[in-house]
Amino acid sequence: MISNKLNRRDFLKRSTEFLGAASFASAAGIGGCIPSTAPAMKAELLQNKIPFDTAIPELSKNGDGVKLENDDLEYPILLIRKSNSAFVAISTECMHLGCQVRMQRTVLRCPCHGSAYDLEGSVLNGPTEHPLKRYNIRMKGTIAEILVL
Ligand code: FES
Repeated sequence: MISNKLNRRDFLKRSTEFLGAASFASAAGIGGCIPSTAPAMKAELLQNKIPFDTAIPELSKNGDGVKLENDDLEYPILLIRKSNSAFVAISTECMHLGCQVRMQRTVLRCPCHGSAYDLEGSVLNGPTEHPLKRYNIRMKGTIAEILVL
């Protein structure tokens, strides 16, 4: 599972992301990537679980989100606060062609072909037809234990 080599799928995914982002940015008249409102953070992956302490300023308000990264994850995971005690964990893998979605306040946007999802991962507009993958979460106090199966 752990590999530093770029396999075929990773290569295609990254190539698609790059080309899609470049064409979207060009079409939108913006010269760069879509900015994300979810800061990236490193996360530990322990036996298919990601324990993450949610008592941080970046997750203090409902609708706040962070992008959890770990080299063993194929795609980062967005952890988003829904309420005082509830969170949602969503894969950043766009279900259209596999680019990485980015959180922009209340919408998760794909930079490649314009798909958009709400903060639950449901489709707002295509071309994607499928919701984002969600992960189960067990709360232990302020620790959100994301079950990565
Ligand atoms: S990969 Fe095409 S819209 Fe996301």
